[in-house]
Amino acid sequence: MIALAQIGCGYWGPNLLRNFSALPGAWVKYVVETSETRRRYVETLYPATQVVSSIDAIYRDPEVTAVVVATPAQTHFTLALQTLQSGRHVFVEKPLAMSVSEVDTLAALAAKQRLTLMVGHTFLYNPAVLFLKQLIDSGELGRIYYLYAQRLNLGVVRSDVNALWNLAPHDVSIFNFLLGSAPTAVVAHGTDYLQKGIEDVVFAHLEYPGQVRASLHVSWLDPNKVRKVTLVGSRKMVVYDDVADDKLVVYDKGIDSPIPPGAELPFDQTAAGMKLVYRSGDSHVPKLPAVEPLREEARAFVEAIATGLPPRSGTESGRNVVAALQAASLSLKENSRRVQLTEIFPKPAP
Ligand SMILES: NC(=O)c1ccc[n+]([C@@H]2O[C@H](COP(=O)([O-])OP(=O)(O)OC[C@H]3O[C@@H](n4cnc5c(N)ncnc54)[C@H](O)[C@@H]3O)[C@@H](O)[C@H]2O)c1
Repeated sequence: MIALAQIGCGYWGPNLLRNFSALPGAWVKYVVETSETRRRYVETLYPATQVVSSIDAIYRDPEVTAVVVATPAQTHFTLALQTLQSGRHVFVEKPLAMSVSEVDTLAALAAKQRLTLMVGHTFLYNPAVLFLKQLIDSGELGRIYYLYAQRLNLGVVRSDVNALWNLAPHDVSIFNFLLGSAPTAVVAHGTDYLQKGIEDVVFAHLEYPGQVRASLHVSWLDPNKVRKVTLVGSRKMVVYDDVADDKLVVYDKGIDSPIPPGAELPFDQTAAGMKLVYRSGDSHVPKLPAVEPLREEARAFVEAIATGLPPRSGTESGRNVVAALQAASLSLKENSRRVQLTEIFPKPAP
């Protein structure tokens, strides 16, 4: 039984607290909250959990072996560093930190102390994303041409980070996981309409090895709630819509070239001298397991501590996401210049 402490229980923290509290192998001994209102909220719902206002209490208690950080992004590095320095495992909400150098400092310390450092890339524990990964790896979709994600809604507007750092960690973590690689170059466009210097909407284009292209559109200033990833392969295409009943739809659609034996060219193509055959077959809605991704994520943290093995969303995943966001931030700052990752991170991960 692992005794945990959770730091921060604002908008997202209650979801983590509920899931960690429900795990058979763990219990949340402390919640640390600076806000009195949020402390009262936890006290009412979790009477077995001690609610404190300062982190000192958790570092004084030797029973606490792991800490969950669910505070705003700018505080992640300091709280994760303090936790690792105290000899405890740490789960940090996304993004893992605000720069690659911060991630490297945390990763080096975790490795030295043999502690688990995990980031809350929730979608890597989502059954739809896992199914999509299997489809890609089995070759069923053919060669992956490109993919794009839309993560839009009216709100929640933040003032500590822009829409890129708030929303895009999800999409970049999904892209990197599905493709099994990280972007090599990034171009980003974005605008601050509501608060000076804080982009409400960002469009980013990411180049991956092998001519795979990805783009993302994130916004908290949009009329509709959209959480969608579309992936186009040479054999099949897939739409993952997280707010739809049919979350994953696999389309047996494509354009074949060279022409399969026996296929007839449409007349207009024969006339134009083109050699492409359109294929439009069935669509398929796979049955996905009914699991809560956050529960799986919480379980993965406890398992990683028990086994000592790196979790799926460990330091590599966290670093690659932060690197892409840092490159996108530089592109935003420099008038949407194309930023190559090797230009700002000449050295590979230590
Ligand atoms: N995985 C997801 O889908 C998802 C969704 C939303 C937010 N998040 C992440 O969760 C984290 C928190 O976001 P949020 O929306 O809950 O923010 P929030 O501002 O609503 O809540 C943060 C809470 O932390 C408390 N806090 C801040 N500093 C503290 C400290 N030093 N000690 C103790 N308490 C402290 C604040 O009082 C507040 O209640 C962010 O990293 C965000 O990116 C993840």
